[in-house]
Amino acid sequence: MTSAPKTRRLDADAAGIAEAAAILGKGGLVAFPTETVYGLGALATDADAIARVFRAKGRPAHNPLILHVATTALAHRFAVFDDRADRLAAAFWPGPLTLVLPLNPEAGIARAAIAGLDTVAVRVPRHPTALRLLETIGGPVAAPSANRSGQVSPTTADHVLADLDGRIDVVLDGGPVEVGIESTVLDLSGAEARILRPGSTTRAAIERIIGRLHAGETTADGPLRSPGLLARHYAPKTPLRLDATSVDRDEALLAFGPDPLEGAGCTLNLSATGNLDEAAHNLYAMLRSLDAAGARRIAVMTLPEAGLGEALADRLKRAAST
Ligand code: TXA
Ligand code: MG
Repeated sequence: MTSAPKTRRLDADAAGIAEAAAILGKGGLVAFPTETVYGLGALATDADAIARVFRAKGRPAHNPLILHVATTALAHRFAVFDDRADRLAAAFWPGPLTLVLPLNPEAGIARAAIAGLDTVAVRVPRHPTALRLLETIGGPVAAPSANRSGQVSPTTADHVLADLDGRIDVVLDGGPVEVGIESTVLDLSGAEARILRPGSTTRAAIERIIGRLHAGETTADGPLRSPGLLARHYAPKTPLRLDATSVDRDEALLAFGPDPLEGAGCTLNLSATGNLDEAAHNLYAMLRSLDAAGARRIAVMTLPEAGLGEALADRLKRAAST
């Protein structure tokens, strides 16, 4: 038996990005940093490359991918924008907002990339490496988070390799990402705008541009509106306990704020100053570290729910559900 080929780690400099683009262009799989988390890129028009993405991640075929492009103009080629979409793109792109829009069926997007739906999720990321790579490609790159399906999203190249070494061609190493949790997924395919996945663009920021959003809880019940809403997701292997007000010796503590609980076997603090941006930045890396600490359980202190807290609460709830 031959051993699996190694995944190459390339520096995110001009030469590394050019080489990664060439590999992507030939149907290869390239993980690259975005401002939110690392993505696992493949040409959205290449059905074979898309099939490899689903295999590498172990992702169910019914869960569609986000298409990444360098400019709003490129997004117009395969997604049908309305006035709300134009205003949101102008306000937030490049940046961590994903819009779900009607698909232009003439655009040649591989059916498997969008799980056979008649809508498409699209965003323009703001990470300079991602933008440079996408500019070089000049078309849509499908990129789910670069983790095994159901696992915690990667915020460093090491996290990508921990999950996908030998299963993908390249990881472009741009260091730790800035934001640390995924983009907000906003459904604009119907009359009512609704958040399918809270993320790093807040509900309040979106409402300032297009007015009130559908207030209802996002739920995985009924037809799979957004398969990423499946209850258990973003999950470490160690069980999680939320809203801890005390902690045991055989537990690991994920703390928040200036007064961490005392008594845990080990503690990491999302933000000692109670800053939600810092907490988002640290969340996945700290979950991975605590998961490796061998504790019986991870206890998590309560975080405020306003602003970015909505997305943090969502990820923690999913990580805790069994
Ligand atoms: O920040 C991010 O969004 C990262 C970076 C790499 O861009 N990407 C990411 O992709 O988180 P992924 O595949 O892990 O999550 C994409 C989410 C899933 O919940 C998926 O179900 C949803 O977007 N989605 C994609 N296309 C959709 C569609 N047409 N309708 C509804 N939901 C869709
Ligand atoms: Mg993901």
